[in-house]
Amino acid sequence: MKDKVVLVTGGAAGIGKATALRFAEAGAKVIIGDVNETAGQETAAQLGPDAAFYKVNVADRQEVQAWIDDVVGRYGRVDVLVNNAGILRDGQLVKFKEGALAGQMSEADFDLVISVNLKGVFNCSQAVAPVMIKQGGGVILNATSVVGLDGNFGQTNYVATKSGVIGMTKVWARELGRYGVRVNAVAPGFTATEILASMPQKIIDGMKARTPLGRLGEPRDIANAYFFLASDEAAFITGETLRVDGGIVVGT
Ligand SMILES: NC(=O)c1ccc[n+]([C@@H]2O[C@H](COP(=O)([O-])OP(=O)(O)OC[C@H]3O[C@@H](n4cnc5c(N)ncnc54)[C@H](O)[C@@H]3O)[C@@H](O)[C@H]2O)c1
Repeated sequence: MKDKVVLVTGGAAGIGKATALRFAEAGAKVIIGDVNETAGQETAAQLGPDAAFYKVNVADRQEVQAWIDDVVGRYGRVDVLVNNAGILRDGQLVKFKEGALAGQMSEADFDLVISVNLKGVFNCSQAVAPVMIKQGGGVILNATSVVGLDGNFGQTNYVATKSGVIGMTKVWARELGRYGVRVNAVAPGFTATEILASMPQKIIDGMKARTPLGRLGEPRDIANAYFFLASDEAAFITGETLRVDGGIVVGT
């Protein structure tokens, strides 16, 4: 991974930060794209002199294109793109109490999660793919989730994006394989980061109870999977979704 140019969206915090650190430890030049400027600058400062932070909203196509153009101008190439940025806005499709509609997922929350978790992955991959094709290869890694494979209560929008990411991963593996570009996804189980702050403790405890290894994932567990899939040791793996979930069974 020495001197490889590695882009991590949402790399300011959580799994993205652990991933940025994992690649930087191996000598990669890591570039973070994130909306959180303070945390992004702080993380980039821990990644060594070749690292950089860019304030980028992955849902904004113009910002993404300007980011990739700048990175290519400065670093000359992109070896790995980790599409990690993601958000949650949970809510039930419809919530009924005493025979009457008591709430529902808002259209705004549906659209927002789609724009970041699904369209953001599309935007970044579409901007980076021509760079990888011209240079003769590269690796695109996408953040999905066990809930994208199994579904989950209260997560219509989020699950739609995470299942969609698995689908896009398979499409791009077919479309880009001929150019030496590999595309894979990682499906973390419940992992100890800020994203879980909005989730009730009861649900988190229930998830632990359904995990054979008996704990939440650590960001480093997921970072190690990205690192493996980006490495030459995964040279014959493409179109795959790797679960990193302690064996969790997502229930009703
Ligand atoms: N933590 C988990 O349990 C878990 C499980 C499965 C999948 N995932 C997925 O892993 C990824 C990372 O999750 P996390 O737990 O580290 O989340 P997190 O909330 O800790 O960090 C997400 C990062 O993404 C950034 N971000 C949010 N919106 C953005 C945007 N529009 N453009 C650029 N950056 C943006 C945030 O500023 C933050 O730095 C997400 O895609 C998430 O869906 C997480």
